[in-house]
Amino acid sequence: MNSIDPQVQREVLRRRTFAIISHPDAGKTTLTEKMLLFGGCIDVAGAVRGRKTQRSATSDWMELEKQRGISVSSTVLTFEFEGKRVNLLDTPGHHDFSEDTYRTLMAADCAVMVIDLAKGVEAQTEKLFRVCAMRRIPVLTFVNKVDRPGQEPLQILAEIESKLGIEPVPQNWPLGFGPDFRGLVDLATERVHLFGEQTRDRRGETQTIDLAELSDQDENALQASILSQAREEVELLATAGTTLDRERFLAGEISPVFFGSALTNWGVEHFLRGFLELCPPPRARQSDRGAIEPSRAEFAGFVFKIQANLDPRHRDRVAFVRICAGRFEREMEVMHSRTEKKLRLRRAHRVFGQERETMDEAFPGDIIGLVNPGEFRLGDTICTGEPINFEPLPQFSPEFFAILRCRETLRRKQFSRGLEQLLEEGAIQMFTDSRAARSEPILAAVGELQFDVVRFRLESEYNTQTDIQWLPFKMARWIEGDVEDARRLTLPYSSRVVKDQDGSPAVLFQSLWDTEYAQRENPGVRFEEARGLKQESPSVLTDGSSAD
Ligand code: G4P
Repeated sequence: MNSIDPQVQREVLRRRTFAIISHPDAGKTTLTEKMLLFGGCIDVAGAVRGRKTQRSATSDWMELEKQRGISVSSTVLTFEFEGKRVNLLDTPGHHDFSEDTYRTLMAADCAVMVIDLAKGVEAQTEKLFRVCAMRRIPVLTFVNKVDRPGQEPLQILAEIESKLGIEPVPQNWPLGFGPDFRGLVDLATERVHLFGEQTRDRRGETQTIDLAELSDQDENALQASILSQAREEVELLATAGTTLDRERFLAGEISPVFFGSALTNWGVEHFLRGFLELCPPPRARQSDRGAIEPSRAEFAGFVFKIQANLDPRHRDRVAFVRICAGRFEREMEVMHSRTEKKLRLRRAHRVFGQERETMDEAFPGDIIGLVNPGEFRLGDTICTGEPINFEPLPQFSPEFFAILRCRETLRRKQFSRGLEQLLEEGAIQMFTDSRAARSEPILAAVGELQFDVVRFRLESEYNTQTDIQWLPFKMARWIEGDVEDARRLTLPYSSRVVKDQDGSPAVLFQSLWDTEYAQRENPGVRFEEARGLKQESPSVLTDGSSAD
C-alpha cells in the first residue's frame, strides 16, 4: 500500500509546510510579509499588513463577516523559494483565536515560534507551543525586534528553556542589540553579517566578515564593548555546544534559534535559509492501517478545518484538506472513509487573497479547499486505494463556557438542528452535566469569537435568535475512565464533572489553581488538556490511588 511514486516523491521532498505561532504583536504579520517578499510572492511590503488592519477591526456583524472572509482567504500562503515550495498555514490569532488555531498545527510539519526580545515567552505562544510539543512538531524560534531595547539574548535563551522545557540552540548571535544592533554572527561559520542603513527595508546583500577579523577600529566603527561582549558570548556558546542534532530537533526536543528584526529585514534572509534547510518535508502519518508514506502512489488527506464563509460574496462552506500522500488531480474520484461513499473532487481550490483559483494538481504538504463539500466533518479522511482513516483530530480545552438559549420557543427544533450541525463541524464544543437540575448543554470554545460566529450562523442559517449566559469555568480537563470514576475524585466545589459530546468524562474548572488542587489531591489521575492527542508517557488513571 506504500509503493513509491517517483514524481510524488520529488514533489514531497521540495515541500515545506509550516505555521507561525506567536503572541499578538510579536511580529508574525511582519515576518510573514518579509518571507513573502523574499520569496518573491509579493512585490511591496504592506500587502499583508493591509489585510491585518482590516482583520483587527472588530466587531459589528458587518465586521465579523469581513473578518471571517479574510480568515478564509488567508488559510494558506504559498510561495517558491530556491526550488522549494513553501506552504505557510495561517494560525488565527487576536480576536479570532479559536480551535482552528490549534487544529491548523495538526496540518503543519513544522512551526516557527516568533518571540519579541523584550517581552519574552508570552501566554498565547506558550499555549500554542504546548500543542506543538504534544504532537512533537519541530519548532524553530525567531527572536524578533532585536533592534529594540529588550532582554539580554542569553536571558531569552534561559527563558525559552525554563518556560517551555525545550533546549534552545542558537544558530546566529546578535552583535549588539537594541539601538546598538549592528549585525548577526552565523555561529556555524563565525562569519558576521553586518547591517547598515542601506540594507534596511529591502532585500539585499549584507556585508560579511569573519568575527576574528572584525575590529573596533575599522570603518564599521563598532563600539569596542559591543564587539567584546559578542566575542565572549560566541565563545561561551561554542563551549556550551551549539551544534544542532537534527534527530532531536525533529523529535521536538531542541529548537534552533535565530535572532533578527523582521521590520528592518535584518536576519530575515539568514532565517529563511536556515528554516528551509531545517524544516522537514512531509513525513509519514499514522492511520488505522499503519504509517502512510507521503510518496506513495495512492492519494490520502484529511479535513483539518471547515469554514462557513460569512462573506456575502461567497456564502458557502469550505473544507480544508491537508494532503498527506499521493497526487491530487482535479476531477479525481476519492473515497470518503467515514461514510464509505465515493466523491468526485470537482470544486477544489487554492485560496489566496480574496481570489480562489481552481487547483489541477497538488501534492503532500499542500492544502486544498473543497467548496460545499456536503457531509464532511473535521478529521475526515479522503483517499484512493484501500480505505484508511488518519488519527482523529484532538479536542482542546476550551476557555469560554456558556449556555445558549433559543429566544423563541417555536424555533427550538431549528435551534437544535443548527446546533447539532455546528457541533459536527467542530465550530463549538458541548458538555453535559446529567446531574444538574436543568441539564442544559454547556457550550464551550477556545476563543470568544467562536460564540459570535455560532450565534450569527444560527441566526442567518437557521433563523434562530439566541440569548447567552456565560458560565464561570475557564478550562476543561479530560480524564480516563467514566463519569462515575470522575465523581469519586476529590475536586474543588466550584468544579463540575461533565461528559463531552462523545461521552468522554471531563472536569470543568474555574481557575488554574483549582486544576492544580485537583491534581494534588488525585496524584494518580491525569488531567489532560487535550483529548485524543497521543502523548509519550502512558496514562495512569486507575482508581485514583496509584501515584505516578
Ligand atoms: P503580530 O502579527 O504578531 O501581531 O505583529 P505585527 O507583525 O503586526 O507587529 C506588531 C508591531 O511590531 C508592529 O508595529 C510592527 O511594525 C512592529 N514590529 C514587528 N517586527 C518588528 C521588529 O523587528 N522591530 C521593531 N522595532 N518593530 C517590529 P505597530 O506600530 O503595531 O504597527 P505598524 O504601525 O507598524 O503597522
